[in-house]
Amino acid sequence: MQINSRRSMVAGNWKMNGDKALVKQMKKQLEKASLENMDAVICPPFPYLGMFTDSIKLGAQNMSQFDSGAHTGEVSVSMLKEVGCSYIIIGHSERREDNFESNEIVAQKVEKALNADLTPILCFGEPEDIRDDGTLFTYIATQLDAVLKQVGIAQFAKIVLAYEPIWAIGTGKTASPEQAQEVHAFVRGHLAKLDSDIAAKIVILYGGSVKGSNAEELFSQADVDGGLIGGASLNPDDFLSICLAANQ
Ligand code: PGA
Repeated sequence: MQINSRRSMVAGNWKMNGDKALVKQMKKQLEKASLENMDAVICPPFPYLGMFTDSIKLGAQNMSQFDSGAHTGEVSVSMLKEVGCSYIIIGHSERREDNFESNEIVAQKVEKALNADLTPILCFGEPEDIRDDGTLFTYIATQLDAVLKQVGIAQFAKIVLAYEPIWAIGTGKTASPEQAQEVHAFVRGHLAKLDSDIAAKIVILYGGSVKGSNAEELFSQADVDGGLIGGASLNPDDFLSICLAANQ
């Protein structure tokens, strides 16, 4: 539900899920949908990226911080561009945790994606103990400041942000619309101290147990511009209903 000039967006993060059959079903679902007022993006695992067509906006779930060379198992930004990606999820909490990606590595990846003219979907968000001990905003500001230090505020005009509280990811425990709004407004305010125009225009997604049943309420918050969807993006009907909530 758009009450500002920002365009809504919903990105489906399949994580390490899906197969060729799901690629087919999702393509069919999105090609027949009329979603004029929002951008729907699919971020499947690497092997399936080349199976989508130009009519669907594509994102990768990760990229290497290196350009090329002896980095077994890694995928470069130029490869992702060549197979049709226009977005890259960077700094997802699962990568920060499982692959020890520090704020600095995340910042390097964001810079590399920007240099290749791809749009980073920069994820940030707190674990439950940080929310409980009252250091939430400092924690989030530190995550964002590492990237600000690396690329500068002007480049945030080309970045999408995704607030994903770790305690809400895959747990069914969605942040309340008020909790999401509070953090999104804080982030916009934090960026506005450096550039109020960029802060007003930047798209900030919410992620963490978004479903067809809660998407509309979350997206109706003033500073929530759409969602980054994990589990519900694996079901074409559920994903479409979330996209439709953002299309209003
Ligand atoms: P979820 O995942 O929707 O399954 O909670 C969101 C994400 O990790 O991007």
